[in-house]
Amino acid sequence: MTERSNIQALIDKAETTHDLTKDELVTLLQDRQYEAEVFAAADRVRQKYVGDEVHLRGLIEFSNRCKQNCLYCGLRRDNSKVSRYRLDVDTIIDFAVKAKSYGYRTVVLQSGEDEWFDVDKMVDIIKKIKELGLAITISVGEKSREVYQAYRDAGADRYLLRIETTDKELYEKLDPGMSWDNRMRCLYDLKELGFELGSGCLVGIPGQTVESLADDILFFKEIDADMIGVGPFIPNPDTPLADEAGGTFELSTKVMALIRLLLPDINIPATTAMESLNPQGRVLALQRGANVVMPNVTEGEYRQLYLLYPGKICINDTPAHCRSCITGKITGIGRKVSETHGYRVKRA
Ligand code: SAM
Ligand code: SF4
Ligand code: FES
Repeated sequence: MTERSNIQALIDKAETTHDLTKDELVTLLQDRQYEAEVFAAADRVRQKYVGDEVHLRGLIEFSNRCKQNCLYCGLRRDNSKVSRYRLDVDTIIDFAVKAKSYGYRTVVLQSGEDEWFDVDKMVDIIKKIKELGLAITISVGEKSREVYQAYRDAGADRYLLRIETTDKELYEKLDPGMSWDNRMRCLYDLKELGFELGSGCLVGIPGQTVESLADDILFFKEIDADMIGVGPFIPNPDTPLADEAGGTFELSTKVMALIRLLLPDINIPATTAMESLNPQGRVLALQRGANVVMPNVTEGEYRQLYLLYPGKICINDTPAHCRSCITGKITGIGRKVSETHGYRVKRA
């Protein structure tokens, strides 16, 4: 077979069977010539399985305090250049009320690993937000099964916890003091407790190989993830990885497109980090397999302070502006903003 027909056969296989071996994934990840065909196939699968609607999730970044020290992240505890904040419970609820008024049907509560938000405070926040009729996604890191159970009992619907990388050795090098086995335990607990499970990986972290990216994709299939968010690693000057190269927009969207081909009916966000590298990043991602966007609904100076990496978009914009901006981008490509809560509908 010629190279083209070989690659095209792999893309056809992925599009029709939603199944590829690790070697086949590696071949597609390495190829640069036929990327447009991979993106087009992912877009067709997205259209067929999840349709043209785009689900918006309003993101509340409620604390930038973190006890962890991930080498890549601007919120790591040893970064003394960040001025730290945490929102009080009433402010968080207020932001959720406003998110609802902008038409969001889901809020995502995200923070560093901040122990001040103990289980009682989180349960209180979740219950109050559920009373607004919103779906809730929690993204606050690693907790015990009992704590996850309490969040779930209070009404939390979804949980986002990226594995970051399935390469255990690399994970433990980049996340000093953290255990890859515990992160895995968290993901399996969350799934068993009935959360819609969101995970994902960073693309372009130092030491990562295409083989390990292929493992990441196969892992997401194995755990039957309901949402997968992929983002390029963007080096932060105030972290130990300041001088590393970082991930590219193209490879991040390639990984995302392959995830769409293998997990056709899941929710996949066009991530903020993608748009931070490419001004058209989210629109392009929506045309390469994504069907979710998570606009920021945090207000005021807090946006600037939740700085994971430099160049993060929207840090000087208001929630109202972001809402109309993203709607314009979505309708501009002939897609529609969903009015549902946007749960995964299993079709595969
Ligand atoms: N603390 C929670 C956790 O780690 O799961 C949630 C917040 S954390 C800031 C959310 C995500 O930010 C992480 O899963 C990581 O993939 C991403 N992130 C951190 N630093 C980044 C960087 N320099 N470039 C791109 N993404 C980054
Ligand atoms: Fe903390 Fe999450 Fe950043 Fe790690 S990625 S330092 S856990 S906020
Ligand atoms: Fe924030 Fe466009 S989504 S400015």
